Amino acid sequence: MLDACTYVIFGATGNLSQKKLMPALYHLEHAGRLPDDMRILAVGRRDWDDEAWRKVVEEWLTPRARAGLDAEVFARFRQRLFFFKGDLEDETIYTRMQALLSGPDYPANIAFYMSLAPAEYALVSNGLAEAGLNREDDGWRRMVLEKPFGYDLDSAEILNKRLHRHWREDQIFRIDHYLGKGTIQNILVFRFANLMLEPLWNRNYIDHVQIIHAESAGIETRAGYYDGAGALRDMMQSHLLQMLTLVAMEPPPSLDAESLRDEKVKVLRSIRPIPQSAVSAHAFRAQYARGQIGKEKVASYLEEKGVPANSSTETYVAMKLYIDNWRWRNVPFYLRTGKRMAKSTSQISIRFKHPPQQLFQETQIEQLKPNWLLMGIQPNDCLRLELQVKQQGLEMRAETQRMDAASCGITGSGLDAYEALLLDVIDGDHSLFLRFDEVSWAWRVVDPMLKVWSTERDFIHTYPAGSWGPQEANRLFTRDDQAWRNTMDDE
Ligand code: BG6
Repeated sequence: MLDACTYVIFGATGNLSQKKLMPALYHLEHAGRLPDDMRILAVGRRDWDDEAWRKVVEEWLTPRARAGLDAEVFARFRQRLFFFKGDLEDETIYTRMQALLSGPDYPANIAFYMSLAPAEYALVSNGLAEAGLNREDDGWRRMVLEKPFGYDLDSAEILNKRLHRHWREDQIFRIDHYLGKGTIQNILVFRFANLMLEPLWNRNYIDHVQIIHAESAGIETRAGYYDGAGALRDMMQSHLLQMLTLVAMEPPPSLDAESLRDEKVKVLRSIRPIPQSAVSAHAFRAQYARGQIGKEKVASYLEEKGVPANSSTETYVAMKLYIDNWRWRNVPFYLRTGKRMAKSTSQISIRFKHPPQQLFQETQIEQLKPNWLLMGIQPNDCLRLELQVKQQGLEMRAETQRMDAASCGITGSGLDAYEALLLDVIDGDHSLFLRFDEVSWAWRVVDPMLKVWSTERDFIHTYPAGSWGPQEANRLFTRDDQAWRNTMDDE
């Protein structure tokens, strides 16, 4: 049974709240998973009262509720919703909030969700603490922080120190919503619940690994945030590196939060540092130009509302990393992410080496294709093994055949990562949240790129919206026979 609690959402009128947080909370209501007395207090500057806010949430949920908005469920859900008007810069907001929250209507356990720009975290966490809202005299007090945590290594360290002035580590939940996705958790199950894979999962058998996240959407209404962040901070430092840790980590002694995070940190620490002088050999950035997604003509990044005309912010990043440990030494990990790409898809592709003996050289089999293991993360959870088999007929020819796990092609559960994570916060479970050393080692990986690219502002490669990104990124591959696997179906 989960504790009754209050979720206070800073930045509740923003994009994340509209698309993810409110739908997730509604779906939890639908599933009967919210504690009975739970209340949700939205904080924003708009001149709204509770009723106006409830109407806004209803409008947001109507197109997003799975299977349509259920009137009965929403009637229950709306009773939990309250609006608190205030400006984060106004010092009185925190004492007013304290007075409200200590009243009889609000459960004493409180989670503060910071759906804010990272630069505002310190301000708000200090304000809360000065009003005594970090004190756990009568219930727990927790703080949930969205990524990116800081905007580089130094700022992340400073932010962490500032948070720790008033908050203990166990009160802090640094979110990376990819860890809440069932398909991402499946990486661990697949690796550690199947003994037959372990002997193959290393440099002796694996040629390289690709981790790809592509989106057909552009930056939508997020120019204010995105132009200061770029794809390197927005996706690479967090979601893609997290996927990499799960693919590459050693089996943890147990699944508790500390054991898991210890192993992930070891991977990040083992990533070979990229000297600033080698950034262009290891990383490639680009920005979308005008193009076409399906039948729709779409604008370039520079034409998006709110983007400065001379912006050199990257909407695409490709990177080559090496993990210098016994298991992975010299196996390239290619990571790639982009907005306005041809399709929305995330997948991990593992290419195996060729067999040691070219036994079929004298036959019609001209060149054997290697084995691939593909893990589809989005839009469908799918596990596929590509094997070479003999074609039917008299000749000795080979063809690639695919073995799919039975779950391939089945539409996913539809559960959103935020649903699991919002419950974990109430449960006090940190396993799917980031410890600061993970965040800081991830910043160390991308910091050389951040530094170099911040000084090279006069030029950035472009790619047409609706494509798979710039050809030039292929220069990262170490051999001619390596190429991006864009979707589960391409070869
Ligand atoms: C967010 C990024 O963290 O993840 C967005 O800020 C990105 O830019 C999103 O679109 C992708 O998440 P998902 O769950 O839609 O793959």
